[in-house]
Amino acid sequence: MNSDPATDFGLDPQKMPKHVAVIMDGNGRWAKKRLMNRVKGHEKGSDTVRSIVSTARELGIGVLTLYAFSTENWGRPAIEVKTLMSLLKRFILSEQDELMDKDIRLGVIGQMERLPGDVRKEMESAIETTRHNNAMVLNLALSYGGREEITRAARLLAVKVARGDISPEDITEDKVASHLYTKNLPDPDLLIRTSGEMRLSNFMMWQAAYSEIYISQTLWPDFTRQEFMDIIKNYQGRDRRFGKVLCSSNDGSRH
Ligand code: FPP
Repeated sequence: MNSDPATDFGLDPQKMPKHVAVIMDGNGRWAKKRLMNRVKGHEKGSDTVRSIVSTARELGIGVLTLYAFSTENWGRPAIEVKTLMSLLKRFILSEQDELMDKDIRLGVIGQMERLPGDVRKEMESAIETTRHNNAMVLNLALSYGGREEITRAARLLAVKVARGDISPEDITEDKVASHLYTKNLPDPDLLIRTSGEMRLSNFMMWQAAYSEIYISQTLWPDFTRQEFMDIIKNYQGRDRRFGKVLCSSNDGSRH
């Protein structure tokens, strides 16, 4: 075995995505297929979270964002919302030592203020405890919605204009980006969605402008570390042009 785990898995450490974002979908269908309650799907989905966090860390990915609870998810049956909240709390409590051991910093994007007090308290405490960790950021999207995030940024900027702190001409793309929840993070290079659905579902609407997208047919509870690495391999074989013309291209066309 080589010393770099990415190389051991046949990946190029130089072309590792800096930020991978995941829409973890399919927990309900996983449970339904087994005639189980949806809650069981979320429980099994939490195990997958543990495995993918540790794989991302091993591979040297800088930021892993997981869409754990959307602004729309508040509309699910109360018992499901309650279960998801308690799974989040359990995850943070059980994983804190692991986060410290593996030098992983916890971050949250979304409406933290809407989370139940006990969940919020544990999140804030874990954010504080892990704040000096440097190897990876585990970024949980909680009560997160891309439209809410952009609306919030517009409101924050409007307040600054109204106060005379900035003028409307100062509102550039960089300025908007610096008022999003993700202000200190790079945009995701790779966005994975499990369970075959081909939607963004209000996730990282601004940040995903040039993300490479990979749709996996696997339901999130069945998603494995091997598939995650295969997807990274697929990403490493892609040609990222960010809307520009390739230097080597001689037909002058845009791609
Ligand atoms: C989507 O599946 C998944 C969610 C809404 C929640 C994701 C939560 C977890 C994976 C567990 C807790 C998270 C952490 C970070 C410990 P769905 O219920 O919409 O599935 P369906 O489309 O098959 O019904």
